[in-house]
Amino acid sequence: MTEPIIELKNIDVTFHQKKRTIEAVKNVSIDIERGDVYGIVGYSGAGKSTLVRVINLLQEPTSGSVTVNGETFFQADSQDAKKTRIGTNDLRVRRRKIGMIFQHFNLLNERTVTENVAFALQHSKLKDDEKKAKVAELLELVDLSDRAEQYPSQ
Ligand SMILES: Nc1ncnc2c1ncn2[C@@H]1O[C@H](COP(=O)(O)OP(=O)(O)OP(=O)(O)O)[C@@H](O)[C@H]1O
Ligand SMILES: [Mg+2]
Repeated sequence: MTEPIIELKNIDVTFHQKKRTIEAVKNVSIDIERGDVYGIVGYSGAGKSTLVRVINLLQEPTSGSVTVNGETFFQADSQDAKKTRIGTNDLRVRRRKIGMIFQHFNLLNERTVTENVAFALQHSKLKDDEKKAKVAELLELVDLSDRAEQYPSQ
């Protein structure tokens, strides 16, 4: 077996609200191998989105460990244990390699399909013609090349 690309160990995520404590994720461990396609299935409110957000630390776990591509992003053995986490700048760089499509994603209505896709590349180090090529490649991939200059409402 190869080393997992995503390794979540004993993940707990607990939210404290005024009167309630919500255990959104409780003791979840998964190893995802390179190339695996995973689905997380559960009823509404089961904690699926919270768990996925833990992978790139959009949501910091209450305890557990998060390792991506062999690098520990976060570790805390228990709720009260000392927490170790990757530095902010390193995390920012690692996140560039982790794509996420949000449940409630937003399209920019005043921009074309091409401009919407290009928006995410705005702050990348790619040159303009490389960005153009990347956008074309991605639109081709999802069979939207013929809609490149249309607007989301169309
Ligand atoms: N930031 C937060 N603060 C407080 N409670 C939260 C927060 N985020 C999620 N929760 C609660 O944690 C639980 C899990 O929510 P989550 O959004 O992960 O569920 P889900 O499985 O993705 O649901 P759905 O299928 O509706 O998308 C829910 O009870 C939710 O209300
Ligand atoms: Mg969800």
